[in-house]
Amino acid sequence: MAFGRETEANLVDKLRGIASTFSFVAVQSDRIVGHLLFSPVAVAGKCFSNLSILGLAPVAVLPDYQRQGIGSLPIREGLKECVRSGFQAVVVLGNPDFYSRFGFIPASRKSLGCEYDVPNEAFMVLELESGALQDCSGMVKYRSEFSLCE
Ligand SMILES: CC(C)(COP(=O)(O)OP(=O)(O)OC[C@H]1O[C@@H](n2cnc3c(N)ncnc32)[C@H](O)[C@@H]1OP(=O)(O)O)[C@@H](O)C(=O)NCCC(=O)NCCS
Repeated sequence: MAFGRETEANLVDKLRGIASTFSFVAVQSDRIVGHLLFSPVAVAGKCFSNLSILGLAPVAVLPDYQRQGIGSLPIREGLKECVRSGFQAVVVLGNPDFYSRFGFIPASRKSLGCEYDVPNEAFMVLELESGALQDCSGMVKYRSEFSLCE
């Protein structure tokens, strides 16, 4: 409903249950009003083999509940959980004005590119472990479910 189409909901269904994939929901009055998902991404390029990076997508809040802080809360909690679980970085594709508030910076500044044809500033990364992305460069690849999803 947040996106006005089924694509992202279908994607979440396909990713559910895959290792290192986890979701957060925002609940109000017993209703799920927000949802986000982290799933593993790979880097095609030069990177430490033990580097664990997640992609944050999709992020959705029901239209009537948007712009009330509901989306930000699970993002912050989700990122804390990523740190606790030992992931080193998170990438996201979205509006820089929104995601920069969580510390995301253009991924190009860490020599990481996006496999999709998107504006440079829309693809961002957050290093969760200082220096983790040092000496890392390449193209970030989301799971195949992302490209197969309709
Ligand atoms: C993007 C989305 C998840 C944000 O959730 P939210 O609950 O509305 O956001 P919050 O209320 O926590 O954050 C509000 C702040 O973010 C800003 N913001 C919210 N959505 C934004 C967007 N799409 N672009 C830029 N800024 C945005 C608001 O202006 C507000 O700024 P302020 O604090 O300076 O007033 C939600 O609007 C949504 O579901 N949108 C439709 C689906 C979508 O576009 N998802 C993102 C794909 S990556």
